[in-house]
Amino acid sequence: MLEFRAITRAYELGGERAGVFGVSLTVPKGCLAVLAGPSGSGKTTLLQLAGLLDTPDEGEVRLAGELVSSLPEKARCDLRLRRLGFVFQAFNLVPVLSALENVMLPLQLQGRPEAEARERAEAALARVGLADRRHHHPGQLSGGQQQRTAIARALAPEPLLVLADEPTASLDHAHGGPLLDLMAELAQERGATFLVASHDPSVIARAHTVFRLLDGKLVEVG
Ligand SMILES: Nc1ncnc2c1ncn2[C@@H]1O[C@H](COP(=O)(O)OP(=O)(O)O)[C@@H](O)[C@H]1O
Ligand SMILES: [Mg+2]
Repeated sequence: MLEFRAITRAYELGGERAGVFGVSLTVPKGCLAVLAGPSGSGKTTLLQLAGLLDTPDEGEVRLAGELVSSLPEKARCDLRLRRLGFVFQAFNLVPVLSALENVMLPLQLQGRPEAEARERAEAALARVGLADRRHHHPGQLSGGQQQRTAIARALAPEPLLVLADEPTASLDHAHGGPLLDLMAELAQERGATFLVASHDPSVIARAHTVFRLLDGKLVEVG
């Protein structure tokens, strides 16, 4: 589903070279894959490349077989909207909208009719166990409920790939495991593909595949 071929993205900072170097990896469809490694090892850099928010200096990013890293900005933007879902550490829900309206947002941006957006968003929220919270605003939801809303929002448009950067970092320990269990179930039942950056052991324990990074290099696949 997602393939990195010999990806290098280097940052020069005061003579120091940082970034990711020569990374090749494949995430198959229906897989929950985790990018693991200490802070500064290159996890976010790779997620931004997979999310078409950045382009590599060398190498190729392929999505469902298509070479996407060299597409023009307009085409990458379109792919982001139609084919990718994003879950962030800080949830990034719109505070003045209800959970339902938050989940409807990307569906409406895709140009789907209101009734269809509502129906899909309600189904997505029910699937993550929040049917009875759909009219609550983010501030009225717990951290775990906000993150489940963010997962429903990412998945409702049926993206090819969902990218999550440290999705459990704002949750207490009791919530990280169940959140990843939910992602693993969704990967299995929908054939959705997840790429999650995390150094949380409870996240890594639930991965189908773990890519370990160190100093911008892929050092282990397990
Ligand atoms: N925009 C940037 N400018 C300069 N250096 C950067 C930038 N983004 C990341 N880096 C550097 O690249 C390395 C990898 O960072 P990052 O991908 O954010 O790691 P992680 O997400 O694993 O903590 C770090 O050394 C970081 O300082
Ligand atoms: Mg990071």
